[in-house]
Amino acid sequence: MVETADLWPLGTGRTASGSLTVAGHDLVALADAYGTPAYVFDDATIRDTCRRYRAALATHAPGASRVHYAGKAWLATGLARLIAAEGLGLDVVSAGELAVALRAGADPAMIHLHGNATPTDEVRLALAAGIGQIVIDSLDALQRLVPLVAGRQRPQPVALRLTPEVAAETHHHIQTGHASAKFGLPLAALDAAARALAAADGMVLTALHAHLGSQIFSAAPFAAAIEVLLACAVRLRDAHQIVIDEINIGGGLGVPTAGGQAPLSIEAYAAALGTALRDGCRRHGFAPLRLVIEPGRSIIARAGVALYRVIASKPLPAGSDAARYLHLDGGMGDNIRPALYGAQYHAVLAAQPDAPADETVHLAGRYCESGDVLIHGIPLPRAAIGDVVALASAGAYTLSMASNYNWVPRPPALLLRRDGVRLLQRRETIEDMLARDVPVVPA
Ligand SMILES: Cc1ncc(COP(=O)(O)O)c(C=O)c1O
Repeated sequence: MVETADLWPLGTGRTASGSLTVAGHDLVALADAYGTPAYVFDDATIRDTCRRYRAALATHAPGASRVHYAGKAWLATGLARLIAAEGLGLDVVSAGELAVALRAGADPAMIHLHGNATPTDEVRLALAAGIGQIVIDSLDALQRLVPLVAGRQRPQPVALRLTPEVAAETHHHIQTGHASAKFGLPLAALDAAARALAAADGMVLTALHAHLGSQIFSAAPFAAAIEVLLACAVRLRDAHQIVIDEINIGGGLGVPTAGGQAPLSIEAYAAALGTALRDGCRRHGFAPLRLVIEPGRSIIARAGVALYRVIASKPLPAGSDAARYLHLDGGMGDNIRPALYGAQYHAVLAAQPDAPADETVHLAGRYCESGDVLIHGIPLPRAAIGDVVALASAGAYTLSMASNYNWVPRPPALLLRRDGVRLLQRRETIEDMLARDVPVVPA
């Protein structure tokens, strides 16, 4: 497990008998106490990452630069409180995420609303809450906002999300900066947007935004996108007399989830962004602009560990690429990423994380899809029925994308601290699911 140490939370250790611990809590004991599947999150890893992001921006993009956590990676009231306490803002994409952020007591001025198809009612709720910024994704979204903000005494700050035509190297499902991406205003629509903004009276354009996608391991595309946004800022200034004060380069910093991927450190990432922005501002004659970033995955992925139990196994014919399937009690219902875009993970047996491997297995989920395999071909010690499997770097885009496929309740989420365990979300029950199902028999 040595070469995969950076896939596990910072507070990972061992009990006296060698079982895996996080923040001093035995993961096998937690699986016994809370059942499986279950997701545990290390408080220390989340806080440390937030602090590193803030410190790196303070060093490399000083001024009013800000880090916003992208709640889509995973959001719960307790997590939003923790994030706000660490001084980060929050990005939300729906009235549901907004409700969680407000329930957590997050300052509305530190919340941004994103979305390529946010229903008008949800935009109204965000405006009523006094949200800090609405990120406009299209000319249609801009036009829809016009009557909603008309006549406001204090104009609503807005950002334009542009498609910068920078294709970052990542899976095409999580690539969003190329010209044909579904997100963002085409560069060619910038002038039309500027004219519509000039004609509208209740909003003020403060920022240009781009998000290139997720799981990006190189700084170059971010720097390239900053240059594109600055060129747009020049056009707004020179042709439309609109002066922005913020560049938002979205999220997307990659994190290894399976070992073998070389991470770009938060510090190196911030340094590259800071240099690109500083040099670009100087070249284009801007006073230093505020830099905003929106990391999601890189804050929450490593903090999270998913716990499953082995329910059954199936031997595979000789010559197969694995000795057998281990069937787990979770899978694509709580983590769709392997099935959706081939995401790779690393796992160990929680009771013996350092034991040598005896066999290569496929870790199969419980859901009725052949594609529901969490890990293909992982070497593990010989597992027995009932053993707990711990899946590393499982915190991002797992629970937040969870479903009730096969009418299976969603797992609980626990926050682990040295001083105790806090339940962030309880396990869903069958009663929860039945509560929204109307038992009407059609006549
Ligand atoms: C606009 C925007 N910002 C930030 C993020 C967060 O990206 P990541 O979790 O890769 O950091 C996303 C993710 O899709 C996004 O769409």
